[in-house]
Amino acid sequence: MDMQLAGLTLDSPFIFAPLAGVTRAPVRLLARRGGAALVYTEMVSAMGLSLSQPQTLRLARVWPDEAPLALQLFGADPGRMRLAAAKARELGADILDVNLGCPARKVRRQGAGSALLDSPERARAVVAGAAEGWGGPVTVKLRLGFDRDDLAEIVPGLVEAGAAAICLHARTTRQGFAGQADWAAIARLKAWCPVPVIGNGDVISAEGAVAMLKQTGCDAVMIGRGALGDPWIFSRAADLLAGRQPRPVSLSERRRALAEHAELALREGEALALHLSRLLLIWFCKGLPGASEIRRAAGCARSWREVLRLGDSYFANLEAV
Ligand SMILES: Cc1cc2nc3c(=O)[nH]c(=O)nc-3n(C[C@H](O)[C@H](O)[C@H](O)COP(=O)(O)O)c2cc1C
Repeated sequence: MDMQLAGLTLDSPFIFAPLAGVTRAPVRLLARRGGAALVYTEMVSAMGLSLSQPQTLRLARVWPDEAPLALQLFGADPGRMRLAAAKARELGADILDVNLGCPARKVRRQGAGSALLDSPERARAVVAGAAEGWGGPVTVKLRLGFDRDDLAEIVPGLVEAGAAAICLHARTTRQGFAGQADWAAIARLKAWCPVPVIGNGDVISAEGAVAMLKQTGCDAVMIGRGALGDPWIFSRAADLLAGRQPRPVSLSERRRALAEHAELALREGEALALHLSRLLLIWFCKGLPGASEIRRAAGCARSWREVLRLGDSYFANLEAV
């Protein structure tokens, strides 16, 4: 099940998506332990990284035990991209990814993210800058185009500029997160794209991940929201793909993962441990009885220890039922 991506060998085709505000190192490490073959930082500002701004360096911190890791940059200026990509190499990233898909106004206003899809020449120059600074091929994550599938006009230039893989979130910029991801567009891209294609959008189960691989022919599948609260989705998908019966996740595994995660998050300080433990508890309880009470209580908790205690008694009660 090994696959090659930008010079790396991954041990499965199931990858954890970059999620701003979420995919900090502890959450990434949990996904790696849950079977994600590759994890991404959230998008990091090329400007901030090239200037070594402290808050950007915090987002770009790489832990040795999470490899392989892709560091994702956003920016509009090829020179800044070059400097930031060189810095990413120093920081220990294994892959450099360029964000050409973010639809947020504050990113588009800078000419970065999905705004680059509206200007293929500029996109190409930004990717070339990244590849030059990185010193080798990079990967690109993008959407279909502004309001239709423009990939045939955009992707060939990106590949020439040094894109060694294309990850497609199969929505347009205009769609934001509305509607359905268009998996047929992933299959269309795969049919002619000269580099590996990573499919992305609306995979919410292990079965869905395998279905995307089979329906679109893509080389790898990236899972974002479907992995929140379910970092084990990656190994279940790998089991299914290999024809093995996936093992269900028990309540005590969720309880242990919460504690394991808080311990990891503490490496980055108490504030991050509180923030991420709250998020994790809320995700882990989603769909279970009493989830809304837990959400409220987690919101009021003042320390990560309190969040852990809440989670412990919640899961112990459920197990006792
Ligand atoms: C909260 C949130 C933050 C995101 N942040 C990023 C980001 O930093 N970089 C990026 O390329 N995509 C980002 N995305 C998009 C996801 O990586 C992914 O493309 C999208 O959620 C669709 O995949 P999914 O249906 O599996 O979640 C974000 C999405 C969400 C919901």
